[in-house]
Amino acid sequence: MADDAYKIIDHKYDTVVVGAGGSGLRATMGSAEKGLRTACITKVFPTRSHTVAAQGGIAASLGNNSPDHWTWHMYDTVKGSDWLGDQDAIEYLAREAPAAVYELEHAGVPFSRNEDGTIYQRPFGGHMQNMGEGPPVQRTAAAADRTGHAMLHALYQQSLKYDADFFIEYFALDLIMDEEGACRGVIAMCMEDGSIHRFASHAVVLATGGYGRTFFSATSAHTCTGDGGGMVLRAGLPLQDMEFIQFHPTGIYGAGVLITEGARGEGGYLTNSEGERFMERYAPSAKDLASRDVVSRSMAMEMREGRGVGKDGDHIYLHLDHIDPKILAERLPGITETGKIFAGVDLTKQALPVTPTVHYNMGGIQTNYHGEVVTLKDGDPDSVVPGLFAVGEAACVSVHGANRLGSNSLIDLVVFGRATGHRLAKVIAPGTKHDELPKGNEAMALERLDSFRHADGGAPTAEIRLEMQKAMQAHCAVFRTEELMAEGIEKIDAIYAKMQDIKVADRSLIWNTDLIETLELDNLIAQAEVSIRSAHNRKESRGAHMHEDHPDRDDENWMKHTIAWFTGWGGKGGDVKIDYRPVHDFTLTDDVEYIVPKARVY
Ligand code: FUM
Repeated sequence: MADDAYKIIDHKYDTVVVGAGGSGLRATMGSAEKGLRTACITKVFPTRSHTVAAQGGIAASLGNNSPDHWTWHMYDTVKGSDWLGDQDAIEYLAREAPAAVYELEHAGVPFSRNEDGTIYQRPFGGHMQNMGEGPPVQRTAAAADRTGHAMLHALYQQSLKYDADFFIEYFALDLIMDEEGACRGVIAMCMEDGSIHRFASHAVVLATGGYGRTFFSATSAHTCTGDGGGMVLRAGLPLQDMEFIQFHPTGIYGAGVLITEGARGEGGYLTNSEGERFMERYAPSAKDLASRDVVSRSMAMEMREGRGVGKDGDHIYLHLDHIDPKILAERLPGITETGKIFAGVDLTKQALPVTPTVHYNMGGIQTNYHGEVVTLKDGDPDSVVPGLFAVGEAACVSVHGANRLGSNSLIDLVVFGRATGHRLAKVIAPGTKHDELPKGNEAMALERLDSFRHADGGAPTAEIRLEMQKAMQAHCAVFRTEELMAEGIEKIDAIYAKMQDIKVADRSLIWNTDLIETLELDNLIAQAEVSIRSAHNRKESRGAHMHEDHPDRDDENWMKHTIAWFTGWGGKGGDVKIDYRPVHDFTLTDDVEYIVPKARVY
């Protein structure tokens, strides 16, 4: 290690949650309310976590605005996943969703209301009545178009009620794993003063969000750098289904800022340069409310065939100008404001230029529906990694499979955040004594930190990051081909090699954003490698993975999860090892039957 040895401050907890978005806070609450000594480590102030940006709502079959049933929600989620979701976990999600939403209501989330006082629910893409038959269902409970913001504030307030300790603006560096493969804690750095903190804990819950910032244009915050996924890969564990990356149809053209699907739920529609409502051709029944992969692909097709709008034909119009301005003010005030700020458009009078933009990672750290991280071990694809949990976008339960339905993310956060709390209480007795940690447990984290801190090569972090983002955008987007992805792999490998020649200008430990961004880039680039190689490996089209050389879904050969290990650390090149895990083709209970695969049309 270089000049100064790092001072380590030790802590002991029953549970340490990394991340304070919706799932992290729900898991923190769940752990603390069960009497477990709980810490939550977060690199941003909790109410600035990316959940704050979620707009349109949270799916649950409350049936307030149209008939609904949890089995219909389950059906839509399985279909939305293009049959890659695990049906036991999806059953759990759909069944538990109403209780989770009422819990939020009681926690103080200011949901929009119907005249009779019930929670207002709006239509969202791919959510239907009658086991997919239709018509569209109003299943998405909303707090105007600031649902995530409202949830995050309520959850943070609730977490403070319990006796959890918050370590705010701490950056998690690496997991502490023992020789048996169990997780024993985590090492983090306080960004304010550079002190190093070692958290010994009986469970670590990774709630670190997605890795959307592997791409150039994303609705994800700049903080969405997949830090949990990076730590898991460094711990020698695989990630699952990383090829499935969701493009949200309506990012503001140029800025990438999210315009909620709720806009189409409230009656908005898309047009091409001929003024045509083209979704009627692609999805005659659901039209603009087909699932996101279908709408994004249709938009991309329109642009490709020369019917995009603007001088370069590279975007599409979203119309809300026919909607009563009072409705816009009441139900979509946030996007009315962002439309003005980021596109200079008055939504009550003008169409908004939009384009598909990276929004969500279906893949991530593989878990079961209790939030426990699982891996392939001794032939068992669902072997639990003791002491390690993951929730939220960081995790792949898998309920979203190859494509997530809008508003199924917020419900995933709270349902599985809560399930994790239940599981923690089952597997840990409050105050259980800590065994000694493995010797040299801090070495990996500190050596990595120190080598980046003193890196003095020729390639600044921002330059490498931009190259990675542009390569992913060009080679791993809505439409993929063999050739395009192979070229992308070559590019990403070359960019990864530059990590050996990285330059960090600031050597200090006090608010060293250059260093933090480099550690984040290291997390991102490993996941870019895993994503593009997993995409290149999957020779079919399913959900968000549209492989033009293999345009059909191939259930016989590919109805299986990809699991991928990054083996290229330390400049060995971006190697990835790939294996598979069977999709769970069974339900949790006998209350519902396995939903048999069929063609996915909307
Ligand atoms: O469109 C939206 O409001 C986003 C919701 C989601 O991703 O679930």
